[in-house]
Amino acid sequence: MVKSSSKWVCQNCGLASQSYIGKCPDCNSWGSLIEEVQKTKTKAAKNELIEKETKTSFQSCMDVKLNEANRINSFDKELDSVLGGGFVQGSLVLLAGDPGIGKSTLLLQASDALSENHKVIYACAEESSYQIKLRSNRLNLKHQQTLLFPETNLEDILLLAKKEKPDFLIVDSIQAIYHPMLESSAGSISQVRECANNLMRFAKDNNITTILVGHVNKEGQIAGPKVLEHIVDTVLYFEGERFHNFRLLRATKNRFGPVDEIAVFEMRDSGLKIISNPSFLFMSQNKESTPGSTYTAITEGTKIIIAEVQALVGNTTYAAPRRSANGLDYNRVLQIIAILERRVGFNFSKHDLFVNLVGGLNSDEPAIDLSIAIAIVSCKQDVVPIKRTIYIGEIGLSGEIRQVNNIENRIKEAIKLGFEKVVIPQTEGLSKNLYKQIEIIEAAKLLEAIRKTLTTTKQTADI
Ligand SMILES: Nc1ncnc2c1ncn2[C@@H]1O[C@H](COP(=O)(O)OP(=O)(O)O)[C@@H](O)[C@H]1O
Ligand SMILES: [Mg+2]
Repeated sequence: MVKSSSKWVCQNCGLASQSYIGKCPDCNSWGSLIEEVQKTKTKAAKNELIEKETKTSFQSCMDVKLNEANRINSFDKELDSVLGGGFVQGSLVLLAGDPGIGKSTLLLQASDALSENHKVIYACAEESSYQIKLRSNRLNLKHQQTLLFPETNLEDILLLAKKEKPDFLIVDSIQAIYHPMLESSAGSISQVRECANNLMRFAKDNNITTILVGHVNKEGQIAGPKVLEHIVDTVLYFEGERFHNFRLLRATKNRFGPVDEIAVFEMRDSGLKIISNPSFLFMSQNKESTPGSTYTAITEGTKIIIAEVQALVGNTTYAAPRRSANGLDYNRVLQIIAILERRVGFNFSKHDLFVNLVGGLNSDEPAIDLSIAIAIVSCKQDVVPIKRTIYIGEIGLSGEIRQVNNIENRIKEAIKLGFEKVVIPQTEGLSKNLYKQIEIIEAAKLLEAIRKTLTTTKQTADI
């Protein structure tokens, strides 16, 4: 017997109500409740429960066998390190990202590589097999052993997967599939949640690694990956700027490994290419100094990336001068400007100031402070900073340069990329070996760092 019941569900936060409410009492959004009708097979559900009761049993923790083979390596060791050492068998992974960022491309490349030794079913709910074939030809995929299944009905996908018993099931995307027991349209919050719960149970019961694609949407209308984060084992975010070719894959939740580990890819005509030394992507070609440009070392997970900071200082035509920070924390830039004014003696009240982290990279690490300050001063004074130098250090409110974490690794990355000098806070216990490979300039105060790094000219002597 099929029974229907309806409830009103907030598309923003998932709150369910028996009747319509204009304003969601939980997240305070207006007009976000949508009626969702649910069919329940009461008799079937009861039978399922009885069957389940007979099956249920427990296992002592001591009897659970651990096996390293439970991890399956993907096509690249960088991707494996983001996952914490490869895919864990039977886990549910969510790959989230903006539409068009390259999620399907990444998964098609990964599934092609995996299909050499494993059985991979790719449930393409958004595209036809023909479209996938066109893409795999464009990407020059070698094996082409992936089993394509263009289907949007979750029950059919699970039936096929149960029959075929693959090692991997890829569902692209969770917003395009639907559970026939729910009447709401595919992509609604209850569909997304129900489908994800079913897939979670399926992955665990059958020990099949399942990967879901989830589009990040503007909040409201359609359920996004936020709704799924607590259900899945691992959340990978695929990010990138619209006008840049690089993409970052980042684990924001991982039940089986560290988070904040990243892998960097470049999107090319022939697909995504792993960049194992990403620093080159974020530096302008010219490593020589120009006024207003400095280099710094930022951390992304366990990776160190050498990035370029650029500043432009110009006379303002406005009553209130403009400040802009691209890829950097705006408030932090304002703080550095205030420190330069109060502790070093500059006056920026008649200057517009633009600061930019080159290459579309984003970072709010305090370790970039010194690089930002030197870039601003160098542009303001039109002085070239000393050549081939990396700046590392947080600036305190009294103008002191403070310690940052991971300093040795940052210096090592600078050495690797051929930099000759590094400006850092006063540091004890640095490995002696580093001093042989790079000139280390220590500065306790911002003013001292400015004096040591900006070539002395008439203007710098005035500071
Ligand atoms: N013919 C093509 N040549 C080069 N790049 C392409 C081509 N077709 C698609 N792309 C790139 O692939 C991206 C779409 O990737 P896709 O994997 O479909 O994204 P998603 O699955 O995240 O929506 C596009 O934004 C574009 O950059
Ligand atoms: Mg896609």
